[in-house]
Amino acid sequence: MRISVPKEITEGEDRVALVPVLVKQLSGSGFSVSVESGAGERASFTDEQYSAAGASVVDGAAQAWDSDLVVKINKPTADEVKLLKENSALVGLLQPLMSAELVRQLAHGKVTSFSLDVLPRISRAQSMDVLSSMSTIAGYKAVLIGAAQLGKIFPMLVTAAGTVPPSRVLVLGAGVAGLQAIATARRLGAIVQAFDVRSAVREQIESLGAEFIAPEAASEEAEDVGGYAKELSEEQHRRELELIHKNIVKADLVITTALIPGKIAPVLINREMVNDMLPGSVIVDLASEAGGNCELTTPGQTIVAEGVTIMGPINLASSVPVHASQMFSRNAATFIRHLAPEGSLALDFDDEITRGTCITHEGKIVHEAVLQAQEGGR
Ligand code: NAI
Repeated sequence: MRISVPKEITEGEDRVALVPVLVKQLSGSGFSVSVESGAGERASFTDEQYSAAGASVVDGAAQAWDSDLVVKINKPTADEVKLLKENSALVGLLQPLMSAELVRQLAHGKVTSFSLDVLPRISRAQSMDVLSSMSTIAGYKAVLIGAAQLGKIFPMLVTAAGTVPPSRVLVLGAGVAGLQAIATARRLGAIVQAFDVRSAVREQIESLGAEFIAPEAASEEAEDVGGYAKELSEEQHRRELELIHKNIVKADLVITTALIPGKIAPVLINREMVNDMLPGSVIVDLASEAGGNCELTTPGQTIVAEGVTIMGPINLASSVPVHASQMFSRNAATFIRHLAPEGSLALDFDDEITRGTCITHEGKIVHEAVLQAQEGGR
């Protein structure tokens, strides 16, 4: 079975779906791998490294998409889908719930497509969990860009020029990205506070040396069976905003990561709070792509409002392309081996991972939630 890695053409995308070391491993397990020339360039992986790893390096998109299984990071464009062969497979972050037209095109083209962003969050799937990998990178990088923007240093210093107090970081949402942000800010020497509506994360926050603020506002009921947060009632949300307001006025850097699957991100910071924040403080809003946790966030931009810098970065993982590509590759290669344990696709639709990620197969849309989204959009 031939696996292909085309160049990512989405603007601002520097990652590549398979790095040379994973190409070597897949080639050693009986797959043949082709890589479009230059696909790894922006992540510092050269054509020569791919050739040395056993890949055939091909020129141009037409050749790169002519394969049994195409693995890529971002969802394909309509023109790219046209390059896929009938009965070939596609693996990537397809955002199928928000890409009705793409899904129909994949079904029409008889492509068997798999979307890694709807992978079930079960223990068995952890080694394939691209969302966790990318959130880890984003949480780390969010602290670095926030720290670089801040006119202060993080650690406490006692020097001949006087004592510099430590900076204070507040992290809202302590899932994968939030916990990584806490750990990174702690390593840099900041005093860190954090909040999440799920009381289950309290121990994790505290084990990283941060303070869980307002435990009375978090609860077990705020978590669904999959481990994700549920939407809060109006009253709970109002109480949460009050608590955040009380604490945000002391923070130098605020990192927000709060998301509810399938919904617009909850607003946790309003204009009034921004107005009351310390002059020169910084907000890094990692939920900006889902609408933002701060009312004033402009996705993809850095703005200054009431003396506060508000950053709404998009695709932060791509700004760390080497390690982000390595992690994506390992997750994707494990997923491909899951689909093709003997070197060719052997799909078992009784398996939760296969069923949970397969979007189109044999000309039909086969994913329950995606079908519902299609019908809802009609
Ligand atoms: P996410 O990206 O959907 O959300 C980020 C965080 O925001 C979550 O911790 C959520 O509780 C929090 N949040 C939502 N609304 C909020 C609000 N109004 N105020 C404050 N915080 C709010 O979640 P992520 O990071 O993808 O994972 C969440 C959890 O899922 C993990 O902590 C873990 O329990 C579980 N998980 C399980 C995996 C597995 O078993 N394979 C892999 C990854 C995560």
